[in-house]
Amino acid sequence: FCGIVGFTGNNYQSAPILLKGLQKLEYRGYDSAGLYVADEANGTDQLVKENGRVSELVKLVSEKNVKGTAGIAHTRWATHGVPSVANAHPHVSADGRFYLVHNGVIENYAELKQNYLSDVQFASNTDTEVAVQMIDKFVKEGETTVNALKKLIALMDRNSAYGFLLMDREEPERMYVAKQKSPLLIGIGSDFNVVTSDAVAMLDQTHDFIELHDGEIAIVDPDNVQLFAANGDAISREAFHLDIDATETDKGAYPFYMLKEIDEQPVVIRQLISRYLPKDGQPQIGEGIVKDMLAADRIYIVAAGTSYHAGLVGARLFERWAGIPTEVHVSSEFAYEQPLLSEKPFFIFLSQSGETADSREVLQNINAQGFKSLTLTNVEKSTLWREATYALPLLAGPEIAVASTKAYVAQVTLQAILAYALADREALNLDLEQELSKIAIAIQGIIDDKEQLQEVAEEMLVPAHHAFYIGRGVDSAVVLEAALKLKEISYVQTEGFAAGELKHGTLALIEEDTPVIAVMTQPRLAGLVRGNLAETQARGAKTYTIVTQAIAKPEDDFVLPDINELLTPLVSVVPAQLLAYYTSLGRGLDVDHPRNLAKSVTVQ
Ligand code: F6R
Repeated sequence: FCGIVGFTGNNYQSAPILLKGLQKLEYRGYDSAGLYVADEANGTDQLVKENGRVSELVKLVSEKNVKGTAGIAHTRWATHGVPSVANAHPHVSADGRFYLVHNGVIENYAELKQNYLSDVQFASNTDTEVAVQMIDKFVKEGETTVNALKKLIALMDRNSAYGFLLMDREEPERMYVAKQKSPLLIGIGSDFNVVTSDAVAMLDQTHDFIELHDGEIAIVDPDNVQLFAANGDAISREAFHLDIDATETDKGAYPFYMLKEIDEQPVVIRQLISRYLPKDGQPQIGEGIVKDMLAADRIYIVAAGTSYHAGLVGARLFERWAGIPTEVHVSSEFAYEQPLLSEKPFFIFLSQSGETADSREVLQNINAQGFKSLTLTNVEKSTLWREATYALPLLAGPEIAVASTKAYVAQVTLQAILAYALADREALNLDLEQELSKIAIAIQGIIDDKEQLQEVAEEMLVPAHHAFYIGRGVDSAVVLEAALKLKEISYVQTEGFAAGELKHGTLALIEEDTPVIAVMTQPRLAGLVRGNLAETQARGAKTYTIVTQAIAKPEDDFVLPDINELLTPLVSVVPAQLLAYYTSLGRGLDVDHPRNLAKSVTVQ
């Protein structure tokens, strides 16, 4: 969580660049924001912090006329200490010499505070202030700034996570950088350099980035970047070029990123077709991946949240198309309670961001056991990308809204392509390229017809306190995602249920007007789901049905075109995404920034 950016350049004004960067990083947290800017030429510097969104900080910075060529900035998702100006970053040492922004958690901060800083007066309740006070203390004891940073790092608990950006008032053009678990990139310019948690924040400045690995330290000046390995040796690493158009991260004419990202889903599917099924629909995903997956006796899919829900669909594809037994696990559980594994396991990590800390913990554990893995992620060069045996891009383009939409569709699509590549395609008798093209058209049709979903959301969901989604078979996976979407952005407490389970307890919650939405795409199961829906109606539920054409009856509400039965999640999820969007909108909420959440979850 939290987003950090830094900038140092010759003859630039850093504050507007930092603020624009923070706005692009707001998906990582938006409890408070702050920046520190130094102006070497005039010997001045300013620290500005504000509670709430980056837009509040922008106002305050313009009132204060902040000037300077170098600076660091932060947008916070609170871990230790409530959201407040005092707890906002940058944090500053007691004598005002060192300024630090931090993404991550210092697990043993209380112990460090007690052992090293008992005589220091603290201005905040954060773990980060402990770090900056310790650096100041070590420098006062005679260390150089870089050695003080190294000393601090050596004292931190091994479970700690940090992306640090440090400035020293006595070297106003320089940034000190360190990284462990939290993502950090150094962006290279011609007479400036930047540091950022995510490349998207700095694409207006540069497309060339150097990755920093765990344990490394960097010293960044306007014309120079020095990298040091954990043991202190100087190292060199080439920058990579990121081919993303900066405008892809703009909202354009859309009121919210989420709507833009829902609209982009047909294009995402077409991108995946042209990359992975380019010639006569024959899958192109790399020989090594196919060979290793075919050699496996079991696939383990590991992920969190929406990506986990995409995995639940993927598992059915791997089992039914490729005949490989597949399990799906929530990464935060697998990390600390590894199940008994098969003899030849193969791991798939699903992650939009490629940075989810729980998933990374699992990847590190299975790497230590010598198992092979494949990461499917939207962020090339991300941590999960780098550390897995293989990685494939989701090609969904930057996903900015906190609620994931197009990445889910990309994850299901790419898993379908993988399962197809592993399958006996003659026996399967499916033209996947054609089927996916049909799906892209079907999604477009739903998007074009979205007004009716807005009406349903306003009438049925905006006034609701709680709601249910039910389905069977692959629809039981989709309803989990549908419920997560609705609850996370509208705050209507929603549960997704395997329809047959409802009567084993939860039916007790159905009262007059409780919304129950059924997803029915599997002909052999539709009758059963209709029965379960009738049970809720008999108890006063207000029901709504999302069904495929083959199943539809005159009384059904939202009808989807018929497509391959296992690929229906790609289509049935879209009305659910739109219902969630319009419910959030109808309740007057900030659709892209639901309370208490952040997009990239880099703490465990
Ligand atoms: C919900 C959502 C989250 C993420 C989860 C995993 O809309 O976006 O549930 O899916 O935090 O994130 P990634 O996919 O980046 O590993």
